[in-house]
Amino acid sequence: MHILRSQQFSRELLEEIFRRADIFEQMLRDPSSHERMRRRLAGKTAINLFYTESLRTRISFGFAERNLGMRIDGSENAGQFSSLYPEYRYRGESLEDTIQTVTSYFFIPNSGCIVLRHPDDGAAERAARVSPIPIINAGDGRGQHPTQSFIDVGAINRKFGRVDDLTIVIGGDLAFGRTARSLAYLLSKFKNVRIIFVSPPELKMRSDVLSHLSEYGIVFTEHETVEDVLPDADVVYWTRAQREKSGGDIHYEDISRRYCINAAMMRGMKEDAILLHPLPRNDEIHPEVDSDPRAWYFKQTAYSVPMRMAILELAMDANPRAQSLAEAA
Ligand code: NCD
Repeated sequence: MHILRSQQFSRELLEEIFRRADIFEQMLRDPSSHERMRRRLAGKTAINLFYTESLRTRISFGFAERNLGMRIDGSENAGQFSSLYPEYRYRGESLEDTIQTVTSYFFIPNSGCIVLRHPDDGAAERAARVSPIPIINAGDGRGQHPTQSFIDVGAINRKFGRVDDLTIVIGGDLAFGRTARSLAYLLSKFKNVRIIFVSPPELKMRSDVLSHLSEYGIVFTEHETVEDVLPDADVVYWTRAQREKSGGDIHYEDISRRYCINAAMMRGMKEDAILLHPLPRNDEIHPEVDSDPRAWYFKQTAYSVPMRMAILELAMDANPRAQSLAEAA
């Protein structure tokens, strides 16, 4: 199945993915189970097509694919091309043509998948329309980054043993940050979650997400001042200024100063709250915060390999239980 956006997943399916990721994590820590793990997707091929910069997502997908025994190919043009260029084309070719070309090399159905990062919103959906093999969205412009939000919600679930009944602050550049969007969409699957958005007015969460939350009965509020909302939070999810995606219209200097979390602000947070960030961090979380036990962003990254293994298995139909839940999603 294609993995394109957070809305696709039912709560049951998510729980199955979290369970699977936990099993993979235990297996990763035990060298005697590595051989068994590598048989899961042995002989399948992952094509990693990264049209724009990626460090964490690309490398952690690579680890996940190798751990499952997949062969790996692809192309990475990280940083060479501006993600502002509206219709980035590889040597003049449309995304649709590239996908149809690459997938023609697969002679057996379900013998591989494509992990795609692209600068255009909706690129993964476009690729999926012409692809006979699963497309996994690894970030499409200002659209979504669903696999990151699995990691984020997985981290929340790990800390609290649940996602229901929590107050979650999502802050920073909400207009251009795709991880914040995918996270909000994914949180709509849980019960009695309260979301507090914090951003400057020009970087507010866009209306598609807000209408979705209203439709799913998720209570949310919007604020501009960070200090006002931190004391209420069980989870603070912070994001960087997406300078490269905003088209130069936003004056980020002042915003970065006002939306920076420092040690003094952490004092206003609950003792057992956690601070998450998808990374990369710029200056929106002061390094002095790193030693605070509530700073969970590096624990969060450690979760990305087992989580992406579970996602790859789902995409490749290698987890029948997840597959049966996916049908119902
Ligand atoms: C994010 C992304 O690419 O959207 N990074 C990531 O995958 N962890 C967040 C960002 O770039 O700010």
